[in-house]
Amino acid sequence: MTRPEPRESVLFVCLGNICRSPTAEAVFRERAARAGLGDRVLVDSAGTGGWHVGHPPDRRAIAHAARRGYDLAPLRARQVTREDFRRFGWILAMDEDNLRDLAAMRPDAFGGHLGLMLDVAPSLGVREVPDPYYGGGEGFERVLDLLEEASERLLERVAPGLRG
Ligand code: 4NP
Repeated sequence: MTRPEPRESVLFVCLGNICRSPTAEAVFRERAARAGLGDRVLVDSAGTGGWHVGHPPDRRAIAHAARRGYDLAPLRARQVTREDFRRFGWILAMDEDNLRDLAAMRPDAFGGHLGLMLDVAPSLGVREVPDPYYGGGEGFERVLDLLEEASERLLERVAPGLRG
């Protein structure tokens, strides 16, 4: 008898699903792949708001991520649903507003981890990924800096369960 391979599932959530959470999705997926765990982790992102559903990420998010080797261009925005609480074991919000909206949707039966992405990396000293949408390029670089560090820490939390 072969045992099924352990799997994990991670959903990143922001407001529009065009700047922060697609960046988190691409960065964490790359870190998981680099660790040889790419086929063991389902990684996705969604927004609490629905304004950008079906759109690719913001062109500035695509451009800044591309300079670090992440391809955001194929991603398309979608809105988070209650069904996501059945599909994902980890649901990680970019800021407190996102987390509050998710907590209000959370079904009683959800047994996974709902929290702030940056809480996996306390050494960063900040708990929220600032929304870069109305700012300049430095905001998108800051998003990448925070999410690269937090993705390393998240992988350390998720990987032991995957290696069984
Ligand atoms: P995100 O950024 O939540 O990181 O995707 C935003 C994108 C769009 C808007 C706000 C934030 N918006 O108001 O349209």
